[in-house]
Amino acid sequence: MSNLLDKKILVGMCGSIAAYKTATLVRLLIKAGAEVKVIMTASASKFIAPLTLSTLSRHKIYSDLTDDGSNWNNHVELGSWGDAMVVAPASANTIGKMANGICDNMLLATYLSAKCPVFYAPAMDLDMWKHKAVKRNIDLLHSFGNILIPVEHGELASGFIGDGRMAEPEHILQHLEDYFS
Ligand SMILES: Cc1cc2nc3c(=O)[nH]c(=O)nc-3n(C[C@H](O)[C@H](O)[C@H](O)COP(=O)(O)O)c2cc1C
Repeated sequence: MSNLLDKKILVGMCGSIAAYKTATLVRLLIKAGAEVKVIMTASASKFIAPLTLSTLSRHKIYSDLTDDGSNWNNHVELGSWGDAMVVAPASANTIGKMANGICDNMLLATYLSAKCPVFYAPAMDLDMWKHKAVKRNIDLLHSFGNILIPVEHGELASGFIGDGRMAEPEHILQHLEDYFS
């Protein structure tokens, strides 16, 4: 039996070509018996349709702090809901904001409110991944207790070969399985 059975998992998605892999991750989480709520940045929804993620997760997608300007999406409630949060793909932009306490969208507000462990799976091109600013932000997230799901080596969207690929969905799932074992 999966260690994820009946676990509540918040999945945060950023704008990266790797966003398509998160659809598979959500499907694997649901198959493992988890309940999944997905938060997408505005940029993430340019890469993959929110309808795909809402259908797979069986929940509405959270992306704005308010639904229509009068009803707020309660990020504090959402932050308390999860047994774990996993940001995948985690963009350089969002990693930088997480490291610096910036809170200008639903994903970041939920991250700052999260009472659960936070995993993140970066995705970026090899030079971005090597940049000292990114490394510093990763170190900061480590000091906050956030759990890095390491990038993988291989062909990147740019055509270059190197480190920076988001971990495969099966590997992200395994990190979560191991955590709850
Ligand atoms: C085709 C394309 C692919 C991109 N892939 C990545 C990526 O893999 N990693 C990354 O950090 N940024 C990537 N970016 C840049 C981000 O989409 C951009 O920084 C955006 O502001 C991120 O917003 P978010 O962090 O709010 O999701 C890409 C941009 C484009 C146009």
